[in-house]
Amino acid sequence: MNTSKILQLLPPKARDAVDPYFEAFEVLSSVRDPRVLRSLAPSGVRGMLLHRGKQGVPTKVRANHEVHFDWSYPADMPEMRELYTRAKQNQWDSDTWLDWSIDVDPMNPETDLLPDNFMNFEKMEEFGIHLSREEKREGKMAMASWMLSQFLHGEQGALFAAAQVTEAVPFFDGKLYGATQVMDEARHVEVFHRYLDTKLEKLYQVNDNLFVIIDALMADSRWDMKFLGMQIMVEGLALGAFGTMYQMTKEPLLKELLKNVIRDEARHVHYGVLALREHIIKHLSESERREREDWAFEVALLMRNRFLSYELYEEYYADTLSRAQWREVVYSSKGLEHFRHTMFRRLVPNLREIGLLTDRIKPFYAQAGLMKYFGEAAAPELTEESLLLDLDRGSVSAE
Ligand SMILES: [Fe+2]
Ligand SMILES: [Fe+2]
Repeated sequence: MNTSKILQLLPPKARDAVDPYFEAFEVLSSVRDPRVLRSLAPSGVRGMLLHRGKQGVPTKVRANHEVHFDWSYPADMPEMRELYTRAKQNQWDSDTWLDWSIDVDPMNPETDLLPDNFMNFEKMEEFGIHLSREEKREGKMAMASWMLSQFLHGEQGALFAAAQVTEAVPFFDGKLYGATQVMDEARHVEVFHRYLDTKLEKLYQVNDNLFVIIDALMADSRWDMKFLGMQIMVEGLALGAFGTMYQMTKEPLLKELLKNVIRDEARHVHYGVLALREHIIKHLSESERREREDWAFEVALLMRNRFLSYELYEEYYADTLSRAQWREVVYSSKGLEHFRHTMFRRLVPNLREIGLLTDRIKPFYAQAGLMKYFGEAAAPELTEESLLLDLDRGSVSAE
C-alpha cells in the first residue's frame, strides 16, 4: 500500500494526526521475514501505537528467559576472563573522575554542545522558520538534550539486559564478566541522568522506536537474541553515537563523561562479539542463523531511519512544520549524517564478524548504502584506547 499517496489526500492537520500510525504501519509492513515480524510486532504495538514509554508511569515487561547455573565453575573462555580482569581494573568512580563543578552554559559559543550544522537551519528557513542566534542555540541545546536522553534510556535498557544476560549465558567466564557490565551500565545511567538533570535541566521521553527495540529484547526468551540486540546492535550503535558526540562537542564535562563511557562500551561490544561468534557460527542451524541475520538487518534499518527526534519537534516546531517537513530537516542535517556514518562504521564489521552478514543479506545492506563499512575493524581488533585514539585522530566538528 502506498501510504504517502493516501496521506496526500488528507488536509494538512489530519495528515499530521495520522502520520505516526502510517509510519508504524510502514515499519512493520516492510519487515520481510515473518519470524522477525512475529518477534517485533507485539513490541511495535506497545511502543509505536500505545506509546507505552510515554505514559508517565513505570513500564512492566515480562521476562521469559531461563537462568543458567553451573555448579562446577568452569574456566571456559580465556578471552572473556581476560576481559573480566580488564573490566575490574578499569572501573571508575563518577563522583571523583568527573569534574561536576564545571558550570555548563549551553548558550556559550566557546563551549558549544554541538556544532551548528547538527540541525539544518537553512532547510528550516526554506520552510519559513527564521530563528535568531539565541533560538538556534536553544534548538541545538534541545537536540543535545534529546540525544542524551535517548542515550540515558538506552543505558537503562542496557543495565537490565546486562543483568538478564548474566543470568542466562551458558559460559561461566561470561557471567563474571557480565557482572562488571551491570556495574558499568549503572554508572552510565547515573552520569547521563546527572548531566541532564543538573546541567541541562531537561529530559525527553523515550523515543518510540527505541522503546520497541528494548521491549523486544527484554521479553525475548533466547539469550543470544538479547545478546545480539543489546551487545551488538544497541551497544554498537551507541558506541558510534557517543563517538560522534565526543568528537563534536566543545563542552569539557560532556567530553570527559563520554570518553569514560566509550572506554566501557568498547568492552561491552567486544564481549558481545566474543560470545556470539562461536555460538552463531558453530551452534545454530542455518534457519536459526538466517532469522538472526534478518532481525539484525531490520533493527539496523529501524535505527538508521527512525530516530527522528519527534519529541523535540513536538515541543518546538509542530505548530509551523509538518511531520514530513521535519523529516526532511533531520535527514538533511550534516551532523546527523556524520552521526549515522560513525554508528554503522562500528556496527557493520561486528555483524560480519559474528556471521550475520553473508552473501544472502549483502545485497540488502548494499541497497541501504551500508556495505561500504564491511571491511572496517570489528570490536575484538579495537582496544578501548585505540578506539579513543581513532576518534581523536578523526576529530571533526562537521562544520
Ligand atoms: Fe552503557
Ligand atoms: Fe554498554
